[in-house]
Amino acid sequence: MQWTPGGRVVENLGMTSDSWVDRDAAVVWHGFTQMAAYADNAPVVVDRAEGREVIDVDGRRYLDAMSSLWVNTLGHRVPELDQAVVDQLGRVAHSTMLGNGNTVVVELAEALAAVVPVDEPHFLFAADGAVAVEQALKVAFQYWVNRGVPDRCRFLALGDAYHGDTVGALSFGDGGFFSAAFDPLRFPVLRTPGYADPGWAAKACAAVAAHAGELAAVVIEPLVQGASGMLCAEPDDVAALGRACRDAGVLLVCDEVATGFGRSGTLFASEQCDLRPDLLCLGKGITGGYLPMSATVASGRVYDEFLGDDLGARTFFHGHSYGGNAVAAAVALRHLQLVDEWDVLANVGARSSQLAALLEEKVAPHPAVGEVRQRGLMVGVELAPPTGGLRWGRRVCAAAVHRGVLLRPLGDVVVVMPPLTITAGEVYRLVDTLEAALDEVTVPDLAVPDPHGAGDADGAP
Ligand SMILES: Cc1ncc(COP(=O)(O)O)c(C=O)c1O
Repeated sequence: MQWTPGGRVVENLGMTSDSWVDRDAAVVWHGFTQMAAYADNAPVVVDRAEGREVIDVDGRRYLDAMSSLWVNTLGHRVPELDQAVVDQLGRVAHSTMLGNGNTVVVELAEALAAVVPVDEPHFLFAADGAVAVEQALKVAFQYWVNRGVPDRCRFLALGDAYHGDTVGALSFGDGGFFSAAFDPLRFPVLRTPGYADPGWAAKACAAVAAHAGELAAVVIEPLVQGASGMLCAEPDDVAALGRACRDAGVLLVCDEVATGFGRSGTLFASEQCDLRPDLLCLGKGITGGYLPMSATVASGRVYDEFLGDDLGARTFFHGHSYGGNAVAAAVALRHLQLVDEWDVLANVGARSSQLAALLEEKVAPHPAVGEVRQRGLMVGVELAPPTGGLRWGRRVCAAAVHRGVLLRPLGDVVVVMPPLTITAGEVYRLVDTLEAALDEVTVPDLAVPDPHGAGDADGAP
């Protein structure tokens, strides 16, 4: 490693991935990762990227088949997006949104307003998906306070839901292994079953009708419950819940942090379900995976209830230091233009059909596979281990990584979530690799438990 007056220059000559892992483990605390085992699990330490591949410190290339945790859309180092960063840095990197404006943020909001499935949309920018959900929660709560109906203060959320890791978002999320330690902090919600239950929609609609007078809002991940392993709903069922909310006057919050920006086959999953949510949560793909940005989108009906006297009680007293960061906004704006100019959704349609056909041919019939679930380029391959403790999800993904395809499991579900610009050749590479990884892990040791295998601790995105 050398130091230059302009900053640090990293030279990889002579640096092995082991030494980077040691340095990493000495100072970095990785989320959703048991640090005592971090180094043993052969982590990939990324040095750079090209297209849809990331390249580790030893020069090994990996197809980024999890889109860097579901954020990347157009690939890495897209010249147009790189240029948007550079251009914006020539203007200003960041200025606050509290009480002041920024031209590129205005332009981004205008561009988003033309495409989001929200009536008269207004954008409250933040940096992470969980914060977009927290903001929606507080907006929905205060909406009823501002209307003089404070009794409508409960929320309905679904079983198997995941909305992020901050305490409010965790409360919306279903409980379980990962959140159990925080149960005393989570506030209670009315919960009806998630998409794994074929009768989920009827139960949710009935609960909305029965509790209308006390409900502030219903929060859902439209079409796909991603972090619970890509559980899929029928669009008509989701539409029925939307109608039930409208009939009962209950606000509908659609969390499209994972599904938004083309991942589910349309720009927003709400479109497939005929939904016009009162509040829409965006994140992840909003900047194409370049920079942290999220947004809570409020309909005019919601927004108008917050108008009143300057600094009066109707004001939404909430905001984050980096909300509406100008560089992130510039990338998000250029990203939205490219999604249109490159007809990215056409590629999503073609590649998701190809992926579905290949998975049906090569992966679904595999004896180790229980079910393949897919919407657009969001796929969950549910493994069916014969006994507990085999940690097949972890091991199949490790075998794929070893073969140059970056995958990450959610328990025993292998998540496949490639960038939206994936090519036909890369789809073949992905499925062939997954098939080989399944064979390697699941055929030889059908009944041999993993020595480390106390449980399936791989978790949420
Ligand atoms: C549906 C959904 N909502 C919210 C979040 C949280 O987003 P973030 O990790 O950016 O806080 C996620 C993350 O995967 C998600 O899938």
